[in-house]
Amino acid sequence: MPDPNLKTSMTLRDAIQQSQHVLEDAGVYFGHGTDNALDEAAWLVSHAAGLPPDFSDQLLDQVLTEAQYQAAMALLEKRITSRLPAAYLLEEAWFAGHRFYVDARVLVPRSPIAELIRDQFRPWLEPGQVRYVLDLCTGSGCIAIATALALPEAQVDAVEISRDALNVARINVASYDLASRLALVESDLFSALTGRRYDLIVSNPPYVDAEDMAALPEEYRHEPALGLAAGEDGLALVIPMLQQAPAYLNPQGVLIVEVGNSAAALQARFPQVPFTWLEFSQGGEGVFLLEASQLVQFHDVFMNSR
Ligand SMILES: C[S@@+](CC[C@H](N)C(=O)[O-])C[C@H]1O[C@@H](n2cnc3c(N)ncnc32)[C@H](O)[C@@H]1O
Repeated sequence: MPDPNLKTSMTLRDAIQQSQHVLEDAGVYFGHGTDNALDEAAWLVSHAAGLPPDFSDQLLDQVLTEAQYQAAMALLEKRITSRLPAAYLLEEAWFAGHRFYVDARVLVPRSPIAELIRDQFRPWLEPGQVRYVLDLCTGSGCIAIATALALPEAQVDAVEISRDALNVARINVASYDLASRLALVESDLFSALTGRRYDLIVSNPPYVDAEDMAALPEEYRHEPALGLAAGEDGLALVIPMLQQAPAYLNPQGVLIVEVGNSAAALQARFPQVPFTWLEFSQGGEGVFLLEASQLVQFHDVFMNSR
């Protein structure tokens, strides 16, 4: 057996390129933190080499040790044979510039809402005026935690129905030392929040419709179905949110919800509602914003919808 500390002839660059080709040939699906084989290879190999995914290009010529190279190859093989998302293999995901612990109890963070958080929700909100935030369907806690870090004056409630997911979120809240400003709440949507009011309600809920659920690539089948499936039309959670949100928003508050591919179904269901569809410079779509006053104005429309 070779000495694990021995240097190989492989640089970081060589190992990444080799891994990229192997991933491409294996036909794995990307969509859990990366969207191409090169980025995924760089993530796996850099992790095996003990580097963060945003390592400096200057390190590309660094020569890997035997142990690092073998660790990278083992990760690559597991990624291909198991079809587990890399985030589950590495037990980490990067969201809005922050690292989160993840495992198969939670969806892998990837929402374009990260870009809004980095912008402190400007121009939709004035950051200094956001005191109370609700993250509905928090999963790993990524949106709630990144928002609390971006808005240091804000108090954040993070709601989740799955105890398994809450246990993961608890690990992340503790690692960012946010327990004094961020409350994890076990609740079916708003049910445990009676009487509370927020300046911002943000959510990346389950929104995959039945047709898309049936056609999901294998990687997504490792994620909790509770985090993805949302009935025949993908709107099973979004409609109750639209119906109930006005009772939990301050008059100047806003509701921001990701609905992904179900945007068309939502717009078709409510053609008279002027959803603001947010645009993202770093990619992503299917996120709408409605002001509290609009939710009030169209309350009857939402209540009569099903
Ligand atoms: C799409 S995942 C998003 C997780 C996280 N917000 C993110 O962006 O990575 C949706 C989450 O909603 C949770 N969920 C499903 N139904 C719920 C409900 N009725 N009330 C609260 N949370 C719910 C799921 O358990 C899952 O963790």
